[in-house]
Amino acid sequence: MTTPLLQVEDLKMHFPVKSRGLFRRVVGQVRAVDGITLHINSGETLGLVGESGCGKSTAGRSIMRLLSPTGGKVILDGVDITNLSRREMVPHRRTAQMIFQDPYSALNPRHTVGSIIGAPFIVQKVKPVGGVRKEVQELMARVGLNPEHYNRYPNEFSGGQRQRIGIARALALKPKLIVCDEPVSALDVSIQAQVINLLQDLQQDFGLAYLFVAHDLSVVRQISHRISVMYLGHIMETASRDVLYSAPQHPYTHALMSAVPVPNPQLAGKRERIMLQGDLPSPINPPKGCVFNTRCFAAQERCRVEVPELIEVTPGHQVACHFPITESLGTTLITGPDPGLTEQPDNAPDSPNAAATNAVFEAGAEPWAQRQS
Ligand SMILES: Nc1ncnc2c1ncn2[C@@H]1O[C@H](COP(=O)(O)OP(=O)(O)OP(=O)(O)O)[C@@H](O)[C@H]1O
Ligand code: SF4
Ligand SMILES: [Mg+2]
Repeated sequence: MTTPLLQVEDLKMHFPVKSRGLFRRVVGQVRAVDGITLHINSGETLGLVGESGCGKSTAGRSIMRLLSPTGGKVILDGVDITNLSRREMVPHRRTAQMIFQDPYSALNPRHTVGSIIGAPFIVQKVKPVGGVRKEVQELMARVGLNPEHYNRYPNEFSGGQRQRIGIARALALKPKLIVCDEPVSALDVSIQAQVINLLQDLQQDFGLAYLFVAHDLSVVRQISHRISVMYLGHIMETASRDVLYSAPQHPYTHALMSAVPVPNPQLAGKRERIMLQGDLPSPINPPKGCVFNTRCFAAQERCRVEVPELIEVTPGHQVACHFPITESLGTTLITGPDPGLTEQPDNAPDSPNAAATNAVFEAGAEPWAQRQS
């Protein structure tokens, strides 16, 4: 068996909650990530999905060591980076890079594109053959930017182009892993497709692995080889894309699947919809036992006292549930390629089916709980 590029074991990230007033005592903990275990192999994409506030970004930032985890382990390319200092982390930043959700705030408006993309070379004291400028211009061309725009500023680019700048910067040091935190959520639907296609091309060319964080199951399905479903700081289910979409076993995954828009109205009418009751509980005071028990349609007494372990039910399929659902509930009716993620040119006008496509993505872009309540 090959060793995974990234191994995350029982990772925890708790943020202290402090009282008001002079002494600011610690009065609780936000358990944003509360013991997640996952791995990513070289060249593969693991999608990480879950509703807003479930801890996806915190997980990504902890794995990247932008945060110092409260517990657990992060092993990157064979090195335990969990407790490395900021300085000790510097060489390992070449192995893993990050792309952020908001292409506007992620780029310094006072720096030119050339200096933004070239910054990793300076920080890491890397001298590319032919010089930084040549290398940056090659990167710009590779991600679909005009290399002659080297001296332009971020505000001269569209949202999609800015995301390409972020991708070029992440690629500069030839990483093995890129953590993508909702890289297309802020973009128009046609631009989303272009950026997803670019990420897939780059994966093929450079053998990159991605941790792809998103709350839109349509987008995650398009790009992921395997998918982990997260809820209130925990992994609820991990499976290959096809298994997760055709035969999920966790009640929460069923609820998510039942809310994915189906473009065919006849099929959509046949599908069972599972409505989640109430809001996501507070990660400061999560429910005892299974954290999903307050909203789960399959909950029983045991769920309120005993935390379910993430158990492998079939090879590569892990579920954290005392009563996994093994029969079809009629919640998954997705077959064939995803609609709306076909490549379009930068200046593409709205296609005839753009309205339908937009509807798919607009619905998919809402936090799950809000959509279902
Ligand atoms: N620095 C922090 N201090 C305290 N609490 C935090 C901090 N960062 C995140 N949290 C809390 O941790 C929880 C998880 O937040 P996180 O941003 O990781 O969720 P998310 O799944 O990425 O949500 P979204 O889909 O909205 O981006 C939330 O309750 C959030 O308020
Ligand atoms: S352990 Fe119980 S509450 Fe949790 S998901 Fe399974 S059935 Fe639902
Ligand atoms: Mg987030």
